[in-house]
Amino acid sequence: MKQQLEQIKLQTLSDIRDAADIPALEAVRVRVLGKKGALTAILKQMGTLSAEERPIMGQIANAVRAELDEALEVRKAQLQAAALEARLAAESIDVTIPCRRSPLGHQHPMNRVLDEAKEIFIGMGYQVVDGPEVETAAYNFTRLNIEEGHPSRDRSDTFYFTDDDSILLRTQTSPMQIRVMENTRPPIRIVAPGRVYRKDEGDATHSPMFHQIEGLVVDEGITMGDLKGALEVLVKRLYGENAVIRFRPHHFPFTEPSCEVDMQCFKCRGTGEVGGQVCPTCHGEGWIELLGGGMVHPDVLANCGIDPEIYSGFAFGIGVERMAMGRLRINDMRPIFDNDIRFLSQF
Ligand code: DAH
Repeated sequence: MKQQLEQIKLQTLSDIRDAADIPALEAVRVRVLGKKGALTAILKQMGTLSAEERPIMGQIANAVRAELDEALEVRKAQLQAAALEARLAAESIDVTIPCRRSPLGHQHPMNRVLDEAKEIFIGMGYQVVDGPEVETAAYNFTRLNIEEGHPSRDRSDTFYFTDDDSILLRTQTSPMQIRVMENTRPPIRIVAPGRVYRKDEGDATHSPMFHQIEGLVVDEGITMGDLKGALEVLVKRLYGENAVIRFRPHHFPFTEPSCEVDMQCFKCRGTGEVGGQVCPTCHGEGWIELLGGGMVHPDVLANCGIDPEIYSGFAFGIGVERMAMGRLRINDMRPIFDNDIRFLSQF
């Protein structure tokens, strides 16, 4: 029995050394120390020994068992360390490999021009306010003096949500005048930039969705001269001191008197022709309409609880895309909406 034990010990120690991984090592352990293992079988035979032999053999068997247990532990630790080592090597990342750069985007050129305009107005003491794109007909039309039956209310011009034509996508930022005036007392000095919607076919200077900047100033003694002054500051800051604009009389139901302001076409420099052809940007006009404006109609002030005997005001609505076309020297509005990176990355 002693020999048997010695042999099991030597064989098992050699097997443990040879075990290449944890499962192989576990198999060795089960083969020797498991329930049906070789050493376990011998321990079971202890009962058949004489009373003198039993303690001696028991001691030897226990020593073999302890030695094997320890050898198993040591080998297991070695194998685990090796496995970890291998995994770390396999998963290592070479941080020195140059990365694939993804190109960085930037602000849309139209928004950049819009921000420039906002900064110019902020510099003149205006506050920037925001309002809903889904409007009521009351704010978009009625309270701005635009009566029932006015062509701009037509279903062919305006996107309505309801059969009774009471809720719509705002066609202009002018309803912001009402929203501000019914909640604020003069002095008022605001600009309200935002999207507006019209059922326009898109062409070089039209789009069914575009942006406006509404402006409104109400105080005692405000005149048309103040409107002109504010707009001249804007245009000269945006386009440079030599920019040419003109004021034309016009009609809007919510201003009296009213005007439109054009900038000289930057494409044909006001001649209406490019290379003997009609200028595609201004359609031969030589001018591009930039905004509408005027003195706030006394009825509109009164509608909002502001006494027109005491206060007067001017208002304007600028087409942001057209303003941006002049600033960026692009002769067609459509690429502003196309999101073509070849266009956008030029700015
Ligand atoms: N809302 C007008 C439009 O979209 C532009 C406009 C004209 C705005 C006169 C104004 C204004 O504030 O006073 O055509």
